[in-house]
Amino acid sequence: MSAFQDRRMQFLTQMDNNSLAVFPASPEKIRSNDTEYPFRQNSDFYYLTGFNEPDACLLLINKPEFQKAVLFNRKKDKKAEVWHGYRLGQSAAVSVLGFDAAYEIDELHKHLLELANGLTALYFPIFQDPDLDKILSNVINELREGKRKGQNAPTSYIDSLPILHEMRLIKSEGEIALLSEAAEISAAGHVRAMQQCSVGMWEYQLQAEVEHEFALQGAPHVAYNSIVAGGENGCILHYTENKGKLRDGDLVLIDAGAEYQGYAGDITRTFPVNGVFSEAQATLYQLVLDIQISAISQIKPGVALRDVNKNAVKQLVDGLLELGILEGERDALIEEEVYKDFYMHGIGHYLGLDVHDVGDSGTADNPRLLEAGMVVTVEPGLYISASANVDDIWKKIGIRIEDDVLVTEFGAEVLSADVPKSINEIEALMADAKKYG
Ligand code: GLY
Ligand code: MN
Ligand code: MN
Repeated sequence: MSAFQDRRMQFLTQMDNNSLAVFPASPEKIRSNDTEYPFRQNSDFYYLTGFNEPDACLLLINKPEFQKAVLFNRKKDKKAEVWHGYRLGQSAAVSVLGFDAAYEIDELHKHLLELANGLTALYFPIFQDPDLDKILSNVINELREGKRKGQNAPTSYIDSLPILHEMRLIKSEGEIALLSEAAEISAAGHVRAMQQCSVGMWEYQLQAEVEHEFALQGAPHVAYNSIVAGGENGCILHYTENKGKLRDGDLVLIDAGAEYQGYAGDITRTFPVNGVFSEAQATLYQLVLDIQISAISQIKPGVALRDVNKNAVKQLVDGLLELGILEGERDALIEEEVYKDFYMHGIGHYLGLDVHDVGDSGTADNPRLLEAGMVVTVEPGLYISASANVDDIWKKIGIRIEDDVLVTEFGAEVLSADVPKSINEIEALMADAKKYG
């Protein structure tokens, strides 16, 4: 049984008796006129099917007489396949992907009417997908109107996502292998950027170096739009314009990750454009690096990321007080969130098929604790913009250091360790590249 079949069974066993679950694929999205954005499958749908075509829908049926996984997908079409590419079709969906049955997507309404009639419960991603909401409301209303004919609409509507996202949160061995590969390829892209960076390049040219390495290593897509931010652009958290010039004396912050077989890498490194950190840059960089290393050392089962972040904030505020960048009393600066002028995001997030992966993180009072098999990022940062009320030597410096970390039974394993992050290692790598090409 494939991992995808196994997951379908796992979901089926959690469904109410006499119920149906519906999972839609992503549609293709128009970029302009008749060209589309590169297709990316819906992660929930992919997790359960391994099927990478648009215009598809998965039904999981849990009836007293049987449990079934049925795929609806595009029909084979010679002409469409010549123009636009291969389609798996229905019979291969059964023989290759292990569905119990497969039908043409145009028949979805008809089959849903039959299957949903008389069910107790319907599971679907509620209010997530207006197209699906419309399909289902047509079916349900038709069943309601058919009461006199003996038809019965389900009476219970259940959000499928909490169940599925809990499954996605704890990674299997196979998923960990894919995430490790994504992290390793991502690391290679960052190494190449450090080696190829030179004063006067455009940010998008350095982006091309990173993504070139991803593709060379078997990852043709990025997991999210790469951030390549020179100088003050590094203070814009989600800067993706990448159109600035890389200047002598500036740092460059690169937040880029490869997508490998659907799984995301998410790495950030910050390094000097000219290969050597200035004194002020090195001081701030070392502060962020110390915080990051300390945060990684706290990652283990039973710990809340929120608490790791609290410790990071304390360490950061202490460091900024010592440097005179902040003034006052530590607890008050934290209580009043003054530090948020310089560090305004969290310490990390779940990582998986989505870069900001799904899964419950609990509440402020009752945070979700880390468990073996979760994969998280650890990514403290420090951003001092031109308008900050600090000494000029600290201004226009944005630093983030981000690694991908697997929570293991007794601690953690850094999946993205192949890209250097100490000042000495980075400077040596860049100097070597300049010397030996
Ligand atoms: N690359 C997005 C993030 O680090 O969260
Ligand atoms: Mn991240
Ligand atoms: Mn990132």
